[in-house]
Amino acid sequence: MTEWIWLNGKVMPLEQARVGIEDRGFQFADGVYEVIRVYNGRCFTLGEHLARLERSAGGIEIAALPIARAALAREIESLVDRSGLVDAMVYLQLTRGQAERAHAFPRCDPTLLFYVRHLPPPPIVGDGAGARVVSVVDERWQRCWIKAIALLPNVLAKNQAIAKGADEAILIDGPFIAEGSASNILLVIRGQLVTAPVGAKVLPGITRAVLLGIAGALGIPIQERAITLAEAMTADEIFITSTTREISHVTRWDDRVVAGGTCGPVTRRLHEALQALINRECPATAARKAVTAVA
Ligand code: PDD
Repeated sequence: MTEWIWLNGKVMPLEQARVGIEDRGFQFADGVYEVIRVYNGRCFTLGEHLARLERSAGGIEIAALPIARAALAREIESLVDRSGLVDAMVYLQLTRGQAERAHAFPRCDPTLLFYVRHLPPPPIVGDGAGARVVSVVDERWQRCWIKAIALLPNVLAKNQAIAKGADEAILIDGPFIAEGSASNILLVIRGQLVTAPVGAKVLPGITRAVLLGIAGALGIPIQERAITLAEAMTADEIFITSTTREISHVTRWDDRVVAGGTCGPVTRRLHEALQALINRECPATAARKAVTAVA
């Protein structure tokens, strides 16, 4: 099945897309990105992702998106339609563009691209043995609220975790836990849902924000505050969140069994509420037919 990409306003098969050697994304990691989840052929929280994209772009001094947010949303939805995919993700990348290599900002047009790729359907709530995480020293910069494509510290941390037989690295900033290499981390401590505030060391995850909204509506108390590694290890429930994984409960951290080694009731309740919201926002009946004709 053809994978489609939208590259600077043109739609083509992914394998035909080309970006120049001197694109600043390639040479300087001078760009930002988004990962958007598609359920039943519809984008979930597309508006929130595009709002974060605009904030990230502003954070690296790309003054404006090459096309307006509403038009971009329509282009993304149209590419999802064309893909015919039901369970998928959209990867979107915006770089400063292509110019002769020099550190100083050049005059050039940004490169904007996005493509749609199949992703397996969502996990069964609380299924499996749970995720295993390991602590890795956070060596990233102080602007982690920007969803920057410069992910080398995240990539190295993730692979350190994999080498130890774990699923995810939790980045540790001094005594505090920040977030996962590609996820946010939330904990249940004495009935409160606790997570580190977004900012220098924590990405404003869309899944995190949606879950805090759900928790608020369910009357679960929320605390956004610094959490030490020592405190995290004693939490009643621990889970990591992202667009692609939704929620994974954590049962092992370094060499310890944590959170009772199981998926706790608050985690389960939140995940069920998240899936109910997804079903409301992206109902199965809305799955649209693939657009087969190439425009
Ligand atoms: N990453 N923190 C980091 C460092 C991340 O890379 C991600 C997601 C998150 C969770 O954010 P959200 O809920 O908006 O997906 C937190 C994506 C999925 C990725 O890089 O593939």
